[in-house]
Amino acid sequence: MEFVTYEAEGQIGLITICRPKALNALNSAVLGELDEVLDAVDLEEIRALILTGSGEKSFVAGADIAEMSSLTKAEGEAFGKKGNDVFRKLEKFPIPVIAAVNGFALGGGCEIAMSCDIRICSENAMFGQPEVGLGITPGFGGTQRLARLIGAGMAKEMIYAARNISAEEAYRIGLVNKVYPQEELMPAARKLATSIARNAPIAVRNSKKAIDEGLQTDIDQAIVIEEKLFGDCFETADQKEGMSAFLERRKEKNFINK
Ligand code: CAA
Repeated sequence: MEFVTYEAEGQIGLITICRPKALNALNSAVLGELDEVLDAVDLEEIRALILTGSGEKSFVAGADIAEMSSLTKAEGEAFGKKGNDVFRKLEKFPIPVIAAVNGFALGGGCEIAMSCDIRICSENAMFGQPEVGLGITPGFGGTQRLARLIGAGMAKEMIYAARNISAEEAYRIGLVNKVYPQEELMPAARKLATSIARNAPIAVRNSKKAIDEGLQTDIDQAIVIEEKLFGDCFETADQKEGMSAFLERRKEKNFINK
């Protein structure tokens, strides 16, 4: 692949968007490669993914403005759909995805980070949806996910005024979980991914599903979704292993994803 690299590090998968000449901006080719890379992840082995950008300046500086500049209405809509389809695949990916935001996360960059389960960032990160300054709306889910994550009032201010925010502000309003010095970001992402990977994979996946599907519905239906996914964990080898380890006061657990 030209713009996306993938490395499996034990039970952790690392996806890096690598298009340095455009600050890792997302054109159709990058979106296509991201789609392919997600399809290629070995879900038997890999228990958590990290998504980052190459270099120390930019995570993803948005959708590619040069590519978008001459699109017709129909092509614009199709480009939005292409991005949305890939981001939705990422959001619904069976295992947790951590965005390690190592610099600019603007437009499509903020949007792809919001499609991940957890966001952490470096001190130089900057988040924003600057699209209205380009004459368009956010188009890869920004109008929807930003409001859901930080509330409609703050999302509307950021989007209408095209106001970019610092890592510190992103932390204060809950857009990221933690801010690190640049050199500590990837070690922190790996540490977090490792602590996810050491838990029972079916239980982690079912937790993700319960949270995400439950948030899309009312509390009564959401509780039923949880009950089913909770019940689904029983009789698995990993449920037996996790509970036996507790009862036997054994620290080491051997979860086998079954
Ligand atoms: N698309 C295409 N190229 C981009 C890009 C983008 N989103 N962001 C940066 N680049 C390119 C620049 O054109 C430049 O290329 P050249 O060297 O060939 O001129 C190169 O990357 C370096 O960028 P700058 O010289 O601008 O770097 P800087 O340090 O001065 O500024 C920046 C950095 C503030 C991130 C600035 O590049 C910038 O504002 N980028 C655009 C950010 C943006 O508006 N993103 C939203 C895009 S719209 C969108 O994402 C729609 C959607 O929701 C789907």
